[in-house]
Amino acid sequence: GETIAPVFAPSNIALCKYWGKRDVELNLPINSSLSISLAHLGTQTRLSVSDEDAVWLNGEKVAAQDKFARKVIAFIDLFRGPQGSPVKVETDNNIPTAAGLASSASGFAALMLAIDGFYGLKLDPQCLSAFARMGSGSASRSLYTGFVEWQMGVREDGMDSIALPLDSHWDALRIGLVKVSVAEKAVDSRSGMNRTVETAHLYQSWPLQAAADLERLHQAIADKNFTQLGETAEQNALSMHATMIAAWPPLLYWQPGSVAAMHRIWQARAEGVEVYFTMDAGPNLKLLFTAEAEAAVKHYFPDMEVIAPFG
Ligand code: DP6
Repeated sequence: GETIAPVFAPSNIALCKYWGKRDVELNLPINSSLSISLAHLGTQTRLSVSDEDAVWLNGEKVAAQDKFARKVIAFIDLFRGPQGSPVKVETDNNIPTAAGLASSASGFAALMLAIDGFYGLKLDPQCLSAFARMGSGSASRSLYTGFVEWQMGVREDGMDSIALPLDSHWDALRIGLVKVSVAEKAVDSRSGMNRTVETAHLYQSWPLQAAADLERLHQAIADKNFTQLGETAEQNALSMHATMIAAWPPLLYWQPGSVAAMHRIWQARAEGVEVYFTMDAGPNLKLLFTAEAEAAVKHYFPDMEVIAPFG
């Protein structure tokens, strides 16, 4: 075919985390999760006709045997079949790759949208979400902006394990990105969650925590109760990290700078500034606060990047 315009998918930050799979092939989760979109931060991807399969990341050609290139091509193979023509994939992230800022979420969502356009599949949003999920679980949530819930589903084929947007806006909500380290992480979230499920007895309490937190987040969003949103998200993230620490070999994604940032947040709260944090499988923190508190939070974290998820 002809060249198709690039498509964009936003990254997302989970307030109630996806941690643990009931099916590792299909990326079917043990618990439902809820995220907030990072709006303008994400991945742009374009597919075009080519003489050979080629993957370009941020303007540079990726070696064919590279793990990233193989994952991308394997995902395309699901749709074009083994006899499919070669393609060029150009993908650009405006977020640091593999720094705990979930570029795999926006990456597979953008790739799914690019595949849908390039092969003229015209899949409905639920199918797009289910297929993006097979690339990376959190990608199921990156098909939408705003608050998004990924419902775990109960079917074995996973076709009910899809994300849906919540019909809620919260204009005053802000996310602050606090970068502790942008180095590639030693253990990716996929291996990390599988190791946790297999080796941490503490993991047994996680599905209960996640279910309770999901309820509390829905309530907080409906009531625009920021304290409840922040408290729930922070406790959910720390509970997830507790299960990782209890795995063997242990998984501690925190760096000294991560712990220092946590103490600074708790100090800020003690001094009356309403700020909370969440963290994924990496050393960086994502701060949660409202527009009203932005100047006060900046005083504690002058270098953070601030995102307004609702524009
Ligand atoms: C801690 O979606 O990257 O960020 O499905 O194996 O690709 P795979 O995992 P991935 O895991 C994300 C885990 C998390 C929490 C979250 O985003 O919900």
